[in-house]
Amino acid sequence: MVKIAPSILAADFSKLGEEVKEVEKAGAELIHIDVMDGHFVPNITMGPIVVEALRPLTKLPLDVHLMIENPDAYIESFAKAGADYITVHVEACRHLHRTLQLIKSTGAKPGVVLNPHTPVDQIMHVLEDVDMVLFMTVNPGFGGQSFIESVVPKVKQLSEIISARGLSIEIEIDGGINEETIKPCVEAGATIFVAGSAIYNQKDRAKALQAIKSAGES
Ligand code: DX5
Ligand code: ZN
Repeated sequence: MVKIAPSILAADFSKLGEEVKEVEKAGAELIHIDVMDGHFVPNITMGPIVVEALRPLTKLPLDVHLMIENPDAYIESFAKAGADYITVHVEACRHLHRTLQLIKSTGAKPGVVLNPHTPVDQIMHVLEDVDMVLFMTVNPGFGGQSFIESVVPKVKQLSEIISARGLSIEIEIDGGINEETIKPCVEAGATIFVAGSAIYNQKDRAKALQAIKSAGES
């Protein structure tokens, strides 16, 4: 099954609530929230107060992607604000196992994110501790970049390992997803697809979302 997680990074921030409601109505399965600190990535976006403000407006799970240094210091605040998934970059975690346990202890679902160049080997020993693995198919920091195709073999590699170990882990793809790029990712075993500009930069968001989903399901 193909699930779409619109990234509100590409939404109109002056009416964020309406923007979230619009994609929920259009058939989105999750809302993807990109948190950037100006240190781990060269951009600054939003913090827990945005998650808290959006929480009562939608029934969809809030998928919080932390692109920040020292995520441990903020995990509790994001969980309290209403995050359902909290994903952290392996490149930002000195004690990844501890960080994932910390997320779990808050009641949120832990996930780990890999930058395009980071090998799957880095997460071999935490697969039992995550509900989601997120593959970046752009370098994190900005929306609207082009899909990096060389990530697809990593997706396939992980998907085979997950099956061999009999685990139940969602594989999410983030960056440059559209009607074309979703296909090889589905074939490689991914299940959740973040889409920012391919949905929010379109006039008819519902049509754009459904077109990406059917391209993934065909
Ligand atoms: C990039 C963010 C993405 C971004 C995706 O650092 O993690 O979630 O919003 O945007 P598009 O779909 O435009 O590549
Ligand atoms: Zn993201």
